[in-house]
Amino acid sequence: MKQIFFFVGFILPLALVNSCSNSKHLDKSTNQAKIKEGLKDHFKEYFTIGVAVSPQSLKTDEAGLILQEFNSMTPENAMKMGPIHPLENQYNWAGGDSIAAFAKRNNLKLRGHTLCWHNQTPRWFFTDSATGKQVSKEVLLQRLKDHITTVVSRYKGTIYAWDVVNEAISDKKDEYMRPSLFYQICGEEFIAKAFQWAHEADPNALLFYNDYNEINPAKREKIIRMIKDLKAKGVPVHGVGLQGHWAINEPSKEQLESTLKDFSELGLNMQITELDISVYPKEHNARERKAEDYDTVFTAEKEMKQVEVYKNCFDLFKKYSKHISSVTFWNISDRRSWLDNFPVRGRKDYPLLFDAQLKPKKAYWEIIKK
Ligand code: XIL
Repeated sequence: MKQIFFFVGFILPLALVNSCSNSKHLDKSTNQAKIKEGLKDHFKEYFTIGVAVSPQSLKTDEAGLILQEFNSMTPENAMKMGPIHPLENQYNWAGGDSIAAFAKRNNLKLRGHTLCWHNQTPRWFFTDSATGKQVSKEVLLQRLKDHITTVVSRYKGTIYAWDVVNEAISDKKDEYMRPSLFYQICGEEFIAKAFQWAHEADPNALLFYNDYNEINPAKREKIIRMIKDLKAKGVPVHGVGLQGHWAINEPSKEQLESTLKDFSELGLNMQITELDISVYPKEHNARERKAEDYDTVFTAEKEMKQVEVYKNCFDLFKKYSKHISSVTFWNISDRRSWLDNFPVRGRKDYPLLFDAQLKPKKAYWEIIKK
């Protein structure tokens, strides 16, 4: 009897209260999920919102975040020459195909990245297998043609835009082109050819030249000069990709405004292709870790500065949205960013809009404010 009283008088009410508060909580969160708009919805009048992904990330809880927030994707590494074409007679489609299938299944746009770059290119590409010596210009151009034709044809109709040539312009003041092996062996010609071959393989794809440190006026002038030159020769280049690997100390509003203004005057499609705002002052070259690099706390001060830069960026992206068709973040959340290992290996960075628990950060709320 005592036990029954205990149950009716104490356990039952407790259980009821608990279940009510649970269902209330459930209702609230389902409603929130229903009404919650993602970045893609907030910016739908302006541009698509993309994210760089790995095939693995699509099998984790990050996939849900992608569907909630983004309407475009870029493979972070899976379609680069090294991963997708590791040996002359071997293509590795698994990663690229799984990203393409996810995009199709979920109705996301897909950007292709990248067909010709000096990094992540396998050694065989530049080497004569019989002699071990560097290949001739003719052989290199033929290999580049085969590579571009095969990769672009495979994703024809799924990938709507390709970063055809990546980072061909030099960062050095008095140097025009980066002295990559492509450049050393072929001269400038490989650039125009790469665009032509990509266009032949998929005449409907939008073809981009993509580069970083575009806020630097000297580099910008060279990028613009090259694109004008390609256009004058009738090369099918349709857009310019500004990577947007920025930081808490740059770009200033003025720097970004003049960058967007100068590129918009080209009259081409413009996309921000690899946006992230590092919480460390910008550096462009990999270097050893120093004593001060061990302090990797994401302080309120760093966050405040990051919020400010993100706000300036999106204010200006919106201002120039007539010219900007897409803004893509480079990685999904602060759980993992390429900046955790660049420019300093093992220095944790926090450059994105979502924290390691996939929760929106202050910068997120700031940029979606009306
Ligand atoms: C980076 C990837 O994020 C890393 O995982 C990889 O180790 C190196 O490349 N510019 C580009 C991107 O165009 O392809 C680079 O991506 C970042 C800089």
